Amino acid sequence: SFTPDYILHITAQNIGIGGIQRYTTVVNGTVPGPELRLTSGETVWIRVYNDIPDRNTTIHWHGLAQAVSPWADGTPMVSQWPIPPHHFFDYRLVIPNDTFGTYFYHSHVGFQSSTASGALIIEDPGIPPYAYNDERTLMFQELFNYTDDQVETRITADPLVWFGETNGFLVNGDTISDYGVVDNATARLNTIEVEPGKMYRLRLVGATTLSYASFAFEGHGGLEIIEADGSYTTPVSVDVMQLGGGERYSVLLHTKTCDELRESGKLDFYMQLESRTRTYVVTNYALLRYHNSCGFPENATHRLSTTSYPAEKPLDLPPVINDFLNHKLEPLFPNDCPTADEVNRRVILNAQQTENGYYIWHDSNVSWSETPVGSQPYTTPTTPYLVALYNDQEAYLPDYDAAIASGGVDPKTKTFPAKIGEVLEIVIQNIGSISVHNQTPGALEAHPWHAHGGHFYDLGSGAGAWSADVMEAGLIGKNPVRRDTTMLFRYNETTQPNEKSGWRVWRLRVENAGVWMVHCHWLQHMIQGMQTVWVFGDAEHVLRVGRPEVEGYLAYGRDVVGRRS
Ligand code: C2O
Ligand code: CU
Repeated sequence: SFTPDYILHITAQNIGIGGIQRYTTVVNGTVPGPELRLTSGETVWIRVYNDIPDRNTTIHWHGLAQAVSPWADGTPMVSQWPIPPHHFFDYRLVIPNDTFGTYFYHSHVGFQSSTASGALIIEDPGIPPYAYNDERTLMFQELFNYTDDQVETRITADPLVWFGETNGFLVNGDTISDYGVVDNATARLNTIEVEPGKMYRLRLVGATTLSYASFAFEGHGGLEIIEADGSYTTPVSVDVMQLGGGERYSVLLHTKTCDELRESGKLDFYMQLESRTRTYVVTNYALLRYHNSCGFPENATHRLSTTSYPAEKPLDLPPVINDFLNHKLEPLFPNDCPTADEVNRRVILNAQQTENGYYIWHDSNVSWSETPVGSQPYTTPTTPYLVALYNDQEAYLPDYDAAIASGGVDPKTKTFPAKIGEVLEIVIQNIGSISVHNQTPGALEAHPWHAHGGHFYDLGSGAGAWSADVMEAGLIGKNPVRRDTTMLFRYNETTQPNEKSGWRVWRLRVENAGVWMVHCHWLQHMIQGMQTVWVFGDAEHVLRVGRPEVEGYLAYGRDVVGRRS
């Protein structure tokens, strides 16, 4: 009989986070969910039980290409039927030999992944190209004092009911919310425990909901970036890190020696985190906590409180750095980026918000959400696109030629089809808002854009309207890195007040047959439609990859169990 390698239980329950009692969706009862550690070359089966009594769920393996199991990508109504209450789905993860690094998993339904996420580390079986003594995972999430249901209902209401900004960044599940201490047992700073005089690899996971994070460690100088979204980079030193939802990095941190600690007179140091790109700045902390292996007399003045914030901010973090790391990250190993000559076509996604009582995000006039927004027609198909491809239901297959004639999007299915072997450039243009009602025209927001189904080569970003000349000039002598999530910046936040647009460009080889989402990773924006669906290859290609290996996948419907056959 079949035994899954891992089991995840998704529940909705009351849980204390950051001093607040909240009803929220969690994985295996904790925030964050358990860290999964797999190794390159491994195939594992993960059974996901939906133990939420009244909500669907799915789990997505963020950053993994799922090239040979596109049916296990975890996107509701795209790669699978959502898992109904009291059912489970068996996901197959085949980790290629050349895949390792820092990933995460999260629910892909509604607002659930605000708390229903956990780190997914793929260990490199070889000797890593950078030497370090030990590693720590830092999961960044956010605390919102609303249930998923409240958020989903309000954000799609006509008129919109905005519920405000985050109540704080969580580091490994800990924070002190800006409500002040309500529940002493859970209002605490996370402690990142280290030994003196060592090199640590910090794996940073941007599992945040809505806020771009800026952070640094008090008294520790810079950090050295060595990995971005699962690829090693040449080392890049930064004084301040910025991290968007869906982005992951590894950074090296050299801890202080005993002499340096003696000089500083303490064993605890603040990590200061601040939100950027939102309407106001939220500040939170964690602690870098040294074991006293230097034989200092134990003395309270060496230690900082884990249950309160400093009276004054220890660090003065700069305003948002737009185009953070632009053209600075380079691959450590050759990564086979296609040349400009190889590009077959460009697709422009105009990311734009309209407001007509309810708010909706459009990408070149397409919006996609499993939650109907305002009076907008329900945009999801009646059968998940990939299920339709396996079943060869013509009605759901995109028309490639019609799409080419309409800027890349098939008017019938609202999907973006591409042929296997094509090399695409995707230009994401940040257009800002259009006021139909009372919104400020031209207001920009920042968006972390994420692609499923593989990695793209990040060609960079810039302010203003995109132009091929400007983009190409910036690329001279540069080797783009492979990423799966990069930022579309806001520009006019503080430093470029007059900017009304901005852009980011990705180049990618269309290799993996399947149906893949490309979307902004802020959950509020996803719910408001800032998502697109891409169909790589046709039914024949999909069938060549192999049949889904879970029973009932094709005829599945909402009440059949997705058990491995
Ligand atoms: Cu991390 Cu489509 O998501
Ligand atoms: Cu967004």
